[in-house]
Amino acid sequence: MWGGRFADKPTDAMQAINASIDIDQRLWRADIAGSKAHAAMLAAQGLLTAEDDGKIQAGLDQIAAEIEAGAFTFSRELEDIHLNIEARLTERIGEAGKRLHTARSRNDQVATDFRLWIGEALARAVAGVGRVQRALLMQAEVHADWAMPGFTHLQSAQPITLGHHLLAYVEMLERDRARLRGARDTTMRDCPLGAAALAGTGFPIDRSSTAAALNFSRPAPNSLDAVSARDFALEALAALAIALTHLSRLAEEIVLWTSPQFAFARLSDAWSTGSSIMPQKRNPDAAELIRAKAARVTAHFSALASIMKALPLAYAKDLQEDKALAFEAFDAFDLSAAAMAGMIETMIFDGARMAAAAGAGFSTATDLADWLVRDLKIPFRDAHHITGALVRRAEALGLPSLADLPLGEFQAVEPRITEAARATLGVDQSIASRASYGGTAPVRVREQIARWKETPP
Ligand code: ARG
Repeated sequence: MWGGRFADKPTDAMQAINASIDIDQRLWRADIAGSKAHAAMLAAQGLLTAEDDGKIQAGLDQIAAEIEAGAFTFSRELEDIHLNIEARLTERIGEAGKRLHTARSRNDQVATDFRLWIGEALARAVAGVGRVQRALLMQAEVHADWAMPGFTHLQSAQPITLGHHLLAYVEMLERDRARLRGARDTTMRDCPLGAAALAGTGFPIDRSSTAAALNFSRPAPNSLDAVSARDFALEALAALAIALTHLSRLAEEIVLWTSPQFAFARLSDAWSTGSSIMPQKRNPDAAELIRAKAARVTAHFSALASIMKALPLAYAKDLQEDKALAFEAFDAFDLSAAAMAGMIETMIFDGARMAAAAGAGFSTATDLADWLVRDLKIPFRDAHHITGALVRRAEALGLPSLADLPLGEFQAVEPRITEAARATLGVDQSIASRASYGGTAPVRVREQIARWKETPP
C-alpha cells in the first residue's frame, strides 16, 4: 500500500516487528464505522461522487459481514487492520476503494478507531462493575444483621455486620464506575478523524460531521494532539487498574473466608476447583486469579505510561503497542468482574461460625470502655486502661471472652462496675450500639440498602 518509493521488499524480521494485524484486527468494527463516516463526509463535501460513496458504503458493509462470518483473510503483508480493510475494499469495488483514503491518514484513523473501541470497552466495564455491586447488595440485604468480626491488622477488632462489610465494597465500586465513566467522557470528547497525518489537510473536509456521526462531542481542535494523544487510554487503564485492585481486595477476603481456618463462607461448586491429588480440596481459583489479574492490569497501565513518557510529537510507531495492552487489560477486567459477580451471587455464609468469631478476641472490649465513659463518667483514656487490665485478667484465667469474667473480677478492678456493664459485652448489643451515620448497626445498614434500592447500580 505504501510501496511506491521502495525498490526492495521489507525483510521478514522487519515485517514481523511492524505488522500489527494479529492484534489490531479487533478494531475492525470501529475501522469500518470510521471509514463509512469519512466517505459520507467526503461525498457531502463534493470530494467523492455519490456513486463512489455508495460503492464504498456497500463494500464496507460486505466486508463487515465477511469478518463477522469469519470469512475474511487477514494478511500480515498488509500490516494492520486499516490496510487490510482498504485493500479488500479495492479488491471488491475497484477504483472507488482507492479514493477512500483522501484527506486522512492511518494516524488519525487509528487514533479514532482506538478511541471508539476504548469507549465501548469502558461502557462494558461499567456494566461489569454494576453486576458485582448488585450481587453484593443482594447478599448485604440477606445478611444485613449477621455478625462477623471486623478486622484491623487482620486481627479481631470490633464486631460488625456482614451486610456492612459487603456494602463497603458497593461504595468502593461506585467510585470505580464514576472513574470509568469519566474515562469514557475523556475518550469520546475529541474526534481525531481529519487530523490526517499530523498537520490537517488541504481538502475542504467537515470534521464536525464525522465527529457527530461517530458520537464524539467535537472534532479534536489540534491535529498534532489528535494523532498523538493516548491519555484517554492511560486514563482508562488507570481506572481499570484501580477497579481491579478493589476486586482483588474482595478476592483476597474470599480466599480467607473460604479457607477451612476461617470457614466463614463456602463457594458454590460452580466457582470452586478441585485438586488433582487432594480429594478434600475446594480451591478458590477464580478469586486467586483476580488477585493476579489486578497485578497485570496495573503493569499494563505502567507499560503504556512508559511508552508515552518523553514521546515527541506527533505520531511515532511506539504508539502501535498501545492496543495489545488495552485489549489484554479489558479482557482481564471483563473476566474478573464476571467471575466476582458469579462467586458473590452464589456464596453461602456460615452464620454460626461468623458469630462465634465475632465474639472472640475480646472484640467487645471497646464497648466496656464506652460504658465506663458513659455511665461512670470516667475519661476515655482511663476507661481504656481499666478495660485493658480486665482483658489481661480474663486471659490469665484462660477465659475466651470478657463476658465469662465473674462480676467480682470486674469490681476488683473498678468497684462501680455493675451487671449492666457486662450486658454491653454481647456481640449483638455491641453491633446495635454502633448506630452513628455510616456505622455497622443493622438499622444503619438497612438504611443504606434502602438508599441503594432507590438508585440501583
Ligand atoms: N498500525 C498503526 C498503529 O497502530 C497505524 C498507524 C500507522 N501509521 C504510520 N505512520 N505508520 O499505530
